[in-house]
Amino acid sequence: MSRLKDLREYIDNELNSLDVEKRVNATAHLYGVSLAATILAKKRGLNEELAAMAGMLHDLHAYKSGSYDDHAHLGAGLARNILEKLDLTTMEETDTICSAIYHHDDKLVVDAPMDELLKDADVIDHCFKDTSKAIIEKEQQRYNNLCNELSL
Ligand SMILES: [Fe+2]
Ligand SMILES: [Fe+2]
Repeated sequence: MSRLKDLREYIDNELNSLDVEKRVNATAHLYGVSLAATILAKKRGLNEELAAMAGMLHDLHAYKSGSYDDHAHLGAGLARNILEKLDLTTMEETDTICSAIYHHDDKLVVDAPMDELLKDADVIDHCFKDTSKAIIEKEQQRYNNLCNELSL
């Protein structure tokens, strides 16, 4: 019994309503951030399963609505609804995941450890998915810090 598998099945199903190109992009990014989050959690001694779940949910609101306007804050609310409906997490775990999603677009400030982990996992997926693309300015410092932390 894997909570992560159950959550992924739910999200896969939600993404099925998108057209093919959007669905491919959404799936690649959510699974990419989820994997990066798991690796960072292992490295930082944080909960790997919660990190992976936060990664899977973090941009779902943007993909479903087609808009990135306030998507982190709105996405935290959507994630809470989903987690409460699926009944996979304790209240404390739900709070941890939703806090990370709420703060994940605030790349220039430092928040709680799991919040920081999700921001960094997002940056890993953005920066390593296609290394021929320039790193955006607000992610450059985090990218440099990650390269140091991971000895890259
Ligand atoms: Fe985002
Ligand atoms: Fe993202």
